[in-house]
Amino acid sequence: MNNQSLKEMPEWKALEAHFEEIRKEHIRNMFAEDPERAERFTVTAEGIYFDYSKHRINSRTMKLLADLAEACGLREAIEAMFRGEKINNTENRAVLHTALRAPADAIINVDGKNVVPEVHAVLDKMEAFSEKIRSGEWKGYTGKAIKNIVNIGIGGSDLGPVMAYEALRNYSRRDLNFRFVSNIDGTDFAEAVRDLNPEETLFIVASKTFTTLETMTNAGTARAWCLATLKDEAAIARHFVALSTNAEAVSAFGIDTSNMFAFWDWVGGRYSMESAIGLSTMIAIGAENFREMLSGFRAIDNHYRTAPFEKNIPVIMALLGIWYADFFKAQGMAVLPYEQYLKRFPAYLQQLTMESNGKGVTRDGRKVNYETGVIYFGEPGTNGQHSFYQLIHQGTKLIPCDFIGFAKPVHNIGRHHDLLMANVFAQAEALAFGKTVEQLEAEGEKPFLVPHKTFEGNRPSSVFLLEKLTPETLGKLVAIYEHCVHAQGVIWQLDSFDQWGVQLGKVLAGRIAPELESVAEPVLKHDSSTNSLIQAYRNMKK
Ligand code: F6P
Repeated sequence: MNNQSLKEMPEWKALEAHFEEIRKEHIRNMFAEDPERAERFTVTAEGIYFDYSKHRINSRTMKLLADLAEACGLREAIEAMFRGEKINNTENRAVLHTALRAPADAIINVDGKNVVPEVHAVLDKMEAFSEKIRSGEWKGYTGKAIKNIVNIGIGGSDLGPVMAYEALRNYSRRDLNFRFVSNIDGTDFAEAVRDLNPEETLFIVASKTFTTLETMTNAGTARAWCLATLKDEAAIARHFVALSTNAEAVSAFGIDTSNMFAFWDWVGGRYSMESAIGLSTMIAIGAENFREMLSGFRAIDNHYRTAPFEKNIPVIMALLGIWYADFFKAQGMAVLPYEQYLKRFPAYLQQLTMESNGKGVTRDGRKVNYETGVIYFGEPGTNGQHSFYQLIHQGTKLIPCDFIGFAKPVHNIGRHHDLLMANVFAQAEALAFGKTVEQLEAEGEKPFLVPHKTFEGNRPSSVFLLEKLTPETLGKLVAIYEHCVHAQGVIWQLDSFDQWGVQLGKVLAGRIAPELESVAEPVLKHDSSTNSLIQAYRNMKK
């Protein structure tokens, strides 16, 4: 790991100088001058056609960015992660989501112990349990089969499962209902269970730590909701299972640890969707599809580990992200899946990317003097086109985009898919090439409308084209973003695997909650704004 300040590195300085040459270049001219540009800046690997030619780059940009990656020790950092070194240094933990999808004969040691057999033992246990639910063999306390599966979790214990369920709904058992409760707002729980019968409902309490306030509060409410009908503590064992690393807390909650599916401290919450946290996914799509999803992850793991940087999709994505964040000072990044089933993919990526790289100090605690942590947002196309795309096309901000499309639809209905994909290609084309004053004038546009109808273009985007949304391709998509985050974190010199920034708010909420609930007037010792808000709330709720 390089401890030199990033901005002092000769490779960074070379990029700064190069940026001055390229910042005024238009993508339009870059294409005009280089007939082979599309080919030059397209990588096809593991069934992903990745076109990054509509970026404000040339071959030298990519060479200089790759030099930076080399100088930052990315190659060794990738190996260190895969080998199970404790690269999460503030928590002194290995980072081994890649072990969750390793083949059974792989050997990955953590503290001298091969973790792969345990990973596969949990997968087998998940499979056996999923099959019991799917076949109706697992009965609720009153002898009825389970029809409803409610996952209770938040952050990584929710976003991955809900994203995967929505993405793979067409592969899921339609006679089972899946619900996801995350928010501490009681509305979330109330709406999730309002039409469910506790006798036919299984709660999956998903929490790595089994201490998270939201999850524990919702799990307690779920328990009371079940017992209000089932009237017997013994019913809990038939209606609750836990996904956690904390057997003690699971047992203290009243869930039999034989109904617990384990994972390990080397799986980060936002990197856990293919661990035991994926139990709801496996129940929905079945073990075979789940294992296909793992094979998708694995294919990209191998790609990330072995492909040279200039052909390495996650590395290229990471370098482009840094190019825009730090040199162009881009203000965000839009992820635009043209597949309605991926509607929760942007929300999932927000935690993955921003909880990982939203950091202002380096691994060794120095304040950074460059931009980190790209702001991700997005919506499925074409819906987003009728919403925020206006700002991306003609606003004052630079927002690079990732377009994700598939050659084959999940539902082949009339012209829908070709029309959908026409929009992917059209949007990327419009962003890059725009529409000039000359073109508008030649069309006879009214002069006062010309400035409004001009599109500057030069707005960068990547296009990812895959064959079809399947469990396997979903695994690939998630893995390319996981590894992109890793590569960026290495170059920005961050610990991408801790999340201290979520702590302070949790602690303060813990202090304020009793002040809202107490019958006696509390003595408030916050700042004057917080004191007044608490007082106004107490008065208003009376
Ligand atoms: O929000 C912080 C966080 O720790 C996330 O990183 C994590 O995914 C989420 O809370 C849930 O944590 P747990 O699985 O321990 O309940």
